[in-house]
Formats: sequence, C-alpha cells, structure tokens
Amino acid sequence: MSSQVREWNIRMHPSEAVASADEREAILANPGFGRFFTDHMVSATWTHEHGWHDAELIPYGPIQLDPATNFMHYGQAIFEGLKAYRHADGSVKTFRPVANAERFAASARRLAMAELPIELFLASVEALVRQDQAWVPSGQEKSLYLRPFMLGTEVGLGVRPAAEYRYLLIASPAGAYFPQGVKPVSVWLSDEYVRAAVGGTGEAKCAGNYAASLIAQAEAAQHGCDQVVWLDAAERTWIEEMGGMNLYFVFGSGDSAQIVTPELTGSLLPGITRSSLLQVAEDLGIRATQARISVQDWRQGCLEGQITEVFACGTAAVITPVGEVKSRNSGGWKINGGTTGPITLKLRQALLDIQTGVAEDPHNWLHHIC
Ligand code: PLP
Ligand code: COI
Repeated sequence: MSSQVREWNIRMHPSEAVASADEREAILANPGFGRFFTDHMVSATWTHEHGWHDAELIPYGPIQLDPATNFMHYGQAIFEGLKAYRHADGSVKTFRPVANAERFAASARRLAMAELPIELFLASVEALVRQDQAWVPSGQEKSLYLRPFMLGTEVGLGVRPAAEYRYLLIASPAGAYFPQGVKPVSVWLSDEYVRAAVGGTGEAKCAGNYAASLIAQAEAAQHGCDQVVWLDAAERTWIEEMGGMNLYFVFGSGDSAQIVTPELTGSLLPGITRSSLLQVAEDLGIRATQARISVQDWRQGCLEGQITEVFACGTAAVITPVGEVKSRNSGGWKINGGTTGPITLKLRQALLDIQTGVAEDPHNWLHHIC
C-alpha cells in the first residue's frame, strides 16, 4: 500500500461476494461503456466539524439517502472521468490523475462544495484500482473507466451550500465509447439550446450541465445526427464543444498540417485529452494552437479546402472523427468526404500508445498503480 493510502487511512472492507473469474471474463470480453461495475467502491464523507473522514473501500452497492437530501433538489453534484490501462507487462497505470483531481477541486469550488484534497482523490483511485485490478482489461481499445463523484448530502430543503458531502468512486470496465468504434460522426449545430454561458458552470464538470444537454442531443438525433455541437451562448457564432468532448480542427495536410482547438473562454470544459493533444501534436511536429473558430470559418474552411479534418476528443472516446455537419441556418457540409483523416488517426494512435505503454511517456503523464 502506498504512503498516500496510509496517509488517508482508507479502511479496507473487501466484499465477500465478488464476481467469479468466469463472470468477470465474460464481461471484460465485451464491456461496452458504463454498463458493468467492479466489486468495490470508495466512499468518504465531509462535515464542517470533522472535514474529510470515514474514507473506506466497501463492496459496490446501493446507497441509502433521505428523500430531502439536498443534491436531489438543488443539484450540488460533480463528477470526473479517468481511465486505468493494462500495459503489456501486466502493470496498471492511470493517465494524468492529478489533472482530474485538480479539475474536481475546481468544479467543487464553482458549485460551493467542499474540495476533496488531491491526495485523497489519488489515494481513492489507488485503493480501488489495486483492489479491483482483475477488472482492468487488456487491449488498446479497453480500459477501466473510473468515475469519482461528489454529492451534497445534508438533509433539508434550505437553498444553501450543503453542510455535508459524500465522495464516491466507482469503476466500470470500458470498450469503445461509441458502439460503431472509430467511425466519423455527424453533428448538428445547436442554435436553439446552449450548453453554457460565460459566468455559468460550463467550466465545471457538474451533473446539471449534462441534464441540460440532453434535449439538444435529442434534437440532433431528430435531424439524423449522432452528436450535438455547442455554440457560444451570446452570439451563437463561435464553436465550443461537441456533446461531452472538445473539438480540434486540422488545417492543411502532410508536413504543413496544423491543429486548432477552440480557446477556453470560460464556458468550455477544459478537457485533459484536449490539453494532452496540444502537447502530443507539438511532439510530433504538428503546430497546435487555441483560437476562436466561427461556424462560417468551419463551413468556408471545408468548402475551400483549408480545413481538412475535424475531430472530437475526451477520455471516454479518446478521439472521434467528425465527418459531417448539419445546421438550420448554414446548411450542411462534409469534412474530408465524410471519412477519417490521417492526422486524426496519427494523433489518436500517438495518445493511445502513451496511455497503454506502447510508446515512451516523455511528460510523465502515467501514474503507476500496480
Ligand atoms: N467536454 C465535456 C463537456 C466533457 O464532459 C468532457 C469529458 O469529460 C470533455 C469535454 C473532455 O474532457 P476530458 O478530456 O478531460 O475527458
Ligand atoms: C468523456 O470522457 O469524454 C466524457 O464526456 C465522459 C462522459 C461519459 C460524461
């Protein structure tokens, strides 16, 4: 056990009824995304009086809550998403967990919640992944998806920051996020609904952002699109994100290809995959910048050939190509003839190779667990 686990004294109460090896292997053969959960979870509680305490690993299972628990009414609920990868030598590593811990703390601040210390976040990840390490699948498109989350658990209907919080960490074996695998998605430009406005909660990973996004995702589906693309709230002009992923635009091709991602204006989620790709691209000799990109820039760029590829990125799906755009006011257009481009594939492979230990890890992004 690492010093961090000891420091936070995560009490271990392992389950006496874990899945059998056969049950587990059947699940790991085709895990999908977010459908199955490992044998354990970690829980910790915060109160004014005691701060963070009762950090423990317990069997995975239902939790009991009073109906007046305030997050159920006023939405103090935040989460994170990160992955543990099985390397060829059998070891298990997570990718940039400190960045997730820092973003979790930033989300807590925005929602006026107690901040979980970075060390406790890491200790919880280490304790759960070590305990449930048999659940980390092998193979480049497979991983163990970790879902830390925190809820305001004070009982009462007063509208104020809760005086009590519950932190939980669960884990779910994951295959491809999109059932079709790495295949270009079609996107609908959402001009009616917005995801977030500057000054709102767009930078935070809070549950409410996802609830607010569902109707726009349904509208995208009605227009025959796989995903929604968010525009800025004020002008409905600037490209922000795609569903639950950040976006990248590839300008030019071959040795002169450059990539550009929408700059962080305050309403976008600062993705860890996004920030990693800025670095991975530079390492591959591909210039990477952050800038504002309008709907018109996107359309014109594709029609005139400057924009050669577009892709979305996030922990769950890594990199997903965008093949087609549809919109109410600007018509529709294809990107790279609706096919996956070479820069998209190159960056995807380069990032996956680091995460899965096939390539060097020059920036020390991997965190060894066991
Ligand atoms: N944007 C949104 C709205 C998200 O939910 C996510 C997923 O976490 C991302 C972007 C990508 O972030 P990351 O790369 O840290 O997973
Ligand atoms: C991502 O990791 O890219 C996500 O958006 C997570 C999603 C399941 C909320």
